[in-house]
Amino acid sequence: MFSKLSITRVRNIAEQVVMPLAQINIFYGENGSGKTSILEAIHMVSLARSFRHSQARPVISRGEQSLVVHAQLKDRGSLRSVGIQRSLRGEPLIRIDGESVRSVSALASLLPVLVLDAGAFLLLEGSSKVRRQFLDWGVFHVEQNFLNTWKSYQRCLKQRNSLLRSSGINSSQMAIWDVELVRYAQAIDEYRKRYFQGFEAVFGQVLAELTELDGLSLHYRRGWEEGKELGDVLTASLSRDLQLGYTQYGAQRADLKIRYRGVDAATLLSRGQQKIVAAALKIAQGLYYKQLLQRPCIFLVDDLPAEIDKRHRQTLCDLFLAQDAQVFMTCIDKASVMSCFQSNEELEVFHVEHGCVRQQPSDEGNIGESND
Ligand SMILES: Nc1ncnc2c1ncn2[C@@H]1O[C@H](COP(=O)(O)OP(=O)(O)OP(=O)(O)O)[C@@H](O)[C@H]1O
Ligand SMILES: [Mg+2]
Repeated sequence: MFSKLSITRVRNIAEQVVMPLAQINIFYGENGSGKTSILEAIHMVSLARSFRHSQARPVISRGEQSLVVHAQLKDRGSLRSVGIQRSLRGEPLIRIDGESVRSVSALASLLPVLVLDAGAFLLLEGSSKVRRQFLDWGVFHVEQNFLNTWKSYQRCLKQRNSLLRSSGINSSQMAIWDVELVRYAQAIDEYRKRYFQGFEAVFGQVLAELTELDGLSLHYRRGWEEGKELGDVLTASLSRDLQLGYTQYGAQRADLKIRYRGVDAATLLSRGQQKIVAAALKIAQGLYYKQLLQRPCIFLVDDLPAEIDKRHRQTLCDLFLAQDAQVFMTCIDKASVMSCFQSNEELEVFHVEHGCVRQQPSDEGNIGESND
């Protein structure tokens, strides 16, 4: 878990040290004060990018060339440090315990971060890519070989797609790539299927705790028809693939279908209900991660009160506490979130104003009392 953060040149935050950090950290302040920017900084030091933009440019303070985020961590009793620098151009510079590290995956494994923000409903309404990335977050953390298999698959797919677009198709070359593509796709499908089977049960439990929505179900789709070999599917769809210039079927088309009473959940659920289902998915992911890896996740929760009523907010906070997750939450009115916590142990509250972060006493009398 994070114990201290130093944020430099991130959006409207020029230079701030945020400490001490607790299990639950609440950042409150007016619109535009810099609350989401703090969450972005945490995401940056965990995954080398913000959750709002993959590019560094919008996140680096205007007029500056680079941003820097350092964090001190307490990891199973030992103190560790991580740091990231991102410039307008070039690769991120990452350091873990003083050593330069080239791959972002080393950071990502160390800091399992899950985001719950205003875009969470996209898990239901968005494209399959959003759900695939969600599923793969879990598979990446649980299956050691997943990342390399996925990279190899992507390489084959790129080759196959460029062959599809090249004039005078060479079918023997295509056959070579297809064999490889099928091999990696099957491995990816196995990893995903295994993860999904365990995850589905945990999701069911979390959802039942969070809401009475009856009849919501999750389904994993592997990206090509069940009961058919991918090799046969690729052969059968070759002429259409050639017309389109890309491969229609395979692991790149996998999806997690979320259905409510037999139809796509996004078409029936209200925006608030969608947010609650999205929260259940993320919380279940954190819980399943903890069950499998014996360490808790870090949640970045942006503007929790928005569209979530008090009762559901309370249950969400209880679920965060129950899985020992470290949580960074933003809100405009601190009482709306502080009232969800019965004790101020393990709670730190920070006021954010014009990019300045000030620790506040967490026992100012708001705990347990909010009228909204
Ligand atoms: N690259 C940048 N450089 C400097 N300031 C920026 C940059 N990008 C955004 N800002 C400003 O930073 C401020 C903080 O933005 P942020 O999204 O963190 O606010 P917030 O406290 O989360 O607000 P809200 O409650 O509306 O969500 C805003 O005033 C925004 O205009
Ligand atoms: Mg914000």
